[in-house]
Amino acid sequence: MAGQFTSSTQVIPDVADVPRHVAIIMDGNGRWAKKRFMPRVAGHKRGVETVRAMVKACIARGVEYLTLFAFSSENWRRPAEEVSFLMNLFISALQGEIGKLHANGVRLKVVGDLSAFEPRLVALIREGEAKTANNSRLTLTIAANYGGRWDILQAMNQLALAHPDAPEPDLFIRTGGEQRISNFLLWQLAYSEFHFTDTLWPDFDDAALDAAINSYRRRERRFGRTSEQLGEQALAVPSAPTPATAATDEDA
Ligand code: IPE
Ligand code: IPE
Ligand code: MG
Repeated sequence: MAGQFTSSTQVIPDVADVPRHVAIIMDGNGRWAKKRFMPRVAGHKRGVETVRAMVKACIARGVEYLTLFAFSSENWRRPAEEVSFLMNLFISALQGEIGKLHANGVRLKVVGDLSAFEPRLVALIREGEAKTANNSRLTLTIAANYGGRWDILQAMNQLALAHPDAPEPDLFIRTGGEQRISNFLLWQLAYSEFHFTDTLWPDFDDAALDAAINSYRRRERRFGRTSEQLGEQALAVPSAPTPATAATDEDA
């Protein structure tokens, strides 16, 4: 966990009107399908369309990093047919989308323990990452066979968390009504603003994203300081360095 990334507990990040990094737990696909008397997997298929729409919407709003939880290390516990459908969906989505992502200036990253995936899928992932590596409009990170605990443990060996060059998420969104982290980004969410919505992932749209961003805008991000200090900082030109900025990287 050496100083390859900047931690909000060491350096106070600049707070912008639009979150630089949005991280989403895309939940509720199964329930979306069930409500329509369709098999659960129909919800996953529909969920890919929401992903496509959200990539566009984030680009349009100036979000720089979008991190999506696609498959958790616990999701292997699901019925084998659902797991295999999800793997095939991942393959077909990569095949269908890489070209469009690239054309739109999106840099793709996949984080998670890829050793459990079939070689064909890993090869597609690596190809997609390589093709889009120099794009900079939006970094789209897909967390697949990802677990926050796995990430922290692998960081101890690799000396870096799964996406070391990204700022920590400013805004965390979970759709589907559940209010839990489910082993998503445990370390990186230390100072993120949380937004939970009952909207199921396949129904999540631009308006729902704007509601989340507007809620984010109303938050006061204090990072340990007092409200008064934030007011003073806004008045001071130029702003004095805070003790937190001067702190050394304890694990560098
Ligand atoms: C999220 O939707 C997608 C994955 C976890 C792969 P779910 O499949 O968890 O949908 P619900 O929670 O059962 O509705
Ligand atoms: C979290 O959703 C994982 C993903 C969205 C990929 P789950 O639906 O698996 O979470 P739990 O098990 O209900 O907490
Ligand atoms: Mg779920």
